[in-house]
Amino acid sequence: MDIKSEILRLKKEKDILILAHNYQLPEVQDIADYVGDSLGLSRQAANTDYKTILFCGVHFMAETAAITCPNKKVLIPDLAAGCSLADTINADELRKWKSEHPGAIAVGYVNTSAEVKAELDYCCTSSNAVNVVKSIPEDKEILFLPDMFLGSYVAKMTNRHNMFIWAGECHVHAGIRSQDVQQKLNEYANAEFLVHPECSCTSSVMYDIASGDYGSRQVQVLSTEGMMNHAKNSASKQFVVATETGILYRMKKLNPDKQFIPMSENAICKYMKMITLDKVHASLKEEKYQVKVPKNIATKAQVAIERMLAIN
Ligand code: 13P
Ligand code: SF4
Repeated sequence: MDIKSEILRLKKEKDILILAHNYQLPEVQDIADYVGDSLGLSRQAANTDYKTILFCGVHFMAETAAITCPNKKVLIPDLAAGCSLADTINADELRKWKSEHPGAIAVGYVNTSAEVKAELDYCCTSSNAVNVVKSIPEDKEILFLPDMFLGSYVAKMTNRHNMFIWAGECHVHAGIRSQDVQQKLNEYANAEFLVHPECSCTSSVMYDIASGDYGSRQVQVLSTEGMMNHAKNSASKQFVVATETGILYRMKKLNPDKQFIPMSENAICKYMKMITLDKVHASLKEEKYQVKVPKNIATKAQVAIERMLAIN
């Protein structure tokens, strides 16, 4: 039996739900029950009846599922699948930052460790960050972490002037520069531009949109699933996509009549690509590696995560 059939057999036999992020390798996306963005995956994990979830994504995603589903077993095929953005802040740094801003509300991206989430008032993802910040009374100071590009995008969209932003970045998205945007704008005159808010080009893109520099060009700043939905529903036939290139596989698969061009071919997350079919197979077979979060941390982190799941 080939590895794909063997994975599907084991998954059925052991009654395990497989979740995969939009950046996963094509062959991993193909064996998953659900492929989506961080928010969608967290919701799937929180609402499923399956007793075991195999998370094909990075560690903070599996950890979030372990927190929202304390009675379920959450597995990740490789414990080393981390996130450079989540690594830019730890719980001690956040506690220190909070002590410098007493009374401020701490809003953290889901790309953070469980220890950091335990210190947050609200968790958010790229798809609901704007609405999470809008739900906080205007007179309250906000500490937004850890992504500075998402933070400045949210501050601009909410017109919030009392937001302090942590200077973290994702090495993959920060590598997509305004020069890449300019080159693709020149090259693809009729394409729509889909931009993830973690990109370093996001701030300049927002500025350029505001100052009318894109003219009639369609530019959308969206989460990965927001990009998927937009690509499906838009009448455009050509899209330049500014995020990790793994998303292009699903975009092309679901929209065979449309053309998708990466803003940068180099936007590859090595952590996401650590999850291979061989590791998924071993993970299912041996039910490894279980992601566990200490109860005292999980209980505190759950409050911020539940607030995130409640806001669209
Ligand atoms: P999404 O929530 O948009 O899928 O983003 C997750 C992520 O890690 C982006 O790098
Ligand atoms: Fe983290 Fe960036 Fe990889 Fe997303 S693309 S998982 S933010 S390192």
